[in-house]
Amino acid sequence: MKYEIVKMDNMGRGITYVDGLITFVPKTIVGDIVELKIVHSKKKYNEAQVINYVKRGSLYKDAICPYYNQCGGCDLMNLKYTDQLNYKKDRIKDLFLKYANTKVNPVIINKNQLGYRNKITLQINNGVIGLVDLNNQVINIKYCNIAKDSINNFIKIIKDFKVNNGKVVIRVNYNDELLIWFQTNDDLVIPDLKDFKIAGIVKNDQVVVGDNNFIDKVNDLYFKVSYNSFFQVNNLINEELFNIINNHINKGDKVLDLYCGVGTISINASLKAKEVIGIEIVKNAIIDATLNKEMNKRNNVEFLLGDVKTTINNVDKEFDTVIIDPPRSGIDQNSLNYILDKKLNKLIYIACDPSSLVRDYEKLKDLYNLKALYLLDMFPNTYHCESVCILERRSN
Ligand SMILES: C[S@@+](CC[C@H](N)C(=O)[O-])C[C@H]1O[C@@H](n2cnc3c(N)ncnc32)[C@H](O)[C@@H]1O
Repeated sequence: MKYEIVKMDNMGRGITYVDGLITFVPKTIVGDIVELKIVHSKKKYNEAQVINYVKRGSLYKDAICPYYNQCGGCDLMNLKYTDQLNYKKDRIKDLFLKYANTKVNPVIINKNQLGYRNKITLQINNGVIGLVDLNNQVINIKYCNIAKDSINNFIKIIKDFKVNNGKVVIRVNYNDELLIWFQTNDDLVIPDLKDFKIAGIVKNDQVVVGDNNFIDKVNDLYFKVSYNSFFQVNNLINEELFNIINNHINKGDKVLDLYCGVGTISINASLKAKEVIGIEIVKNAIIDATLNKEMNKRNNVEFLLGDVKTTINNVDKEFDTVIIDPPRSGIDQNSLNYILDKKLNKLIYIACDPSSLVRDYEKLKDLYNLKALYLLDMFPNTYHCESVCILERRSN
């Protein structure tokens, strides 16, 4: 049987109908005619994989990556870059219209399409080192097109560490230094590393070589990044994110930065604001944030350790602007109530999942005007995107 892909879902998969039931098919684009095998059959939908492409859709382009059809990583590499951006833009527009009855026209910010990732996680399974495919099997890769060059050079020698099973996280900073984190029960053999700038190698939580962190740079600010801490994966787009945020902060504002991580956005905002308070739940992140504040000589920033949900009620201050950069799940109801009760003037909401952003915006839209919406292509060739929504409180 042949099926036509009629549209795309929110996760970069094509949609067709098999006996009337909606069926999601990765690695397809609109207009593809395909033969399928159903891999999961549920009551309300199927998940399928392509066994043969009979005809490709009009927007099709060959993927640059030899692993594309197998790899579970990049979802959109079969689309021209402008079509990838259109897909992401349409997705955000549709979400705002469907769930918040609001028409939007996001400003798109994009930079490098390949070689942008400063971090990659590889699985190691019975000596095979690579990325996970659509069936959760590890596929051997020699390089990854979206990772930075120094990561790809290092991938060539991973096998020399003689790890047979586990995981390896490779990070690189602005200075091409590498920070490597193996998670494995196997013994490590440290090979000759003279061709690499190694900041550190960590096995599980134990430092084996160098240190367990390095310093990365965004614009003119420096940040300590530990082997396991959150740091945006695309430095060029992170710079743009910093610029957007500061363009929407008024000089002298008092700013509250919720979910502040290692303090990146708080410290950036402190260049413009009078005072910034950041809240974060992970203790090590707050320790790093304090160090980052000192390293960048910013004394108008303060960090609080705790769950935003409860800690927010203990902050007895007035703020002009609140920055919200939550995990994928979005903001909790208690924190939303705080924002609504305090009648805060401006919200800068940064979202890695546009569905959570729209859900939260819908609860705020009666009191706030949507001033601007940006779509930052932090993760080209994948369906993921970062968005920033600027909300201003209505005067009435
Ligand atoms: C998307 S990251 C943003 C980090 C930071 N703004 C940045 O750009 O580097 C979300 C952060 O929220 C923190 N987090 C998650 N749940 C939290 C909670 N309930 N309260 C406070 N922080 C939380 C995570 O540890 C993580 O550092």
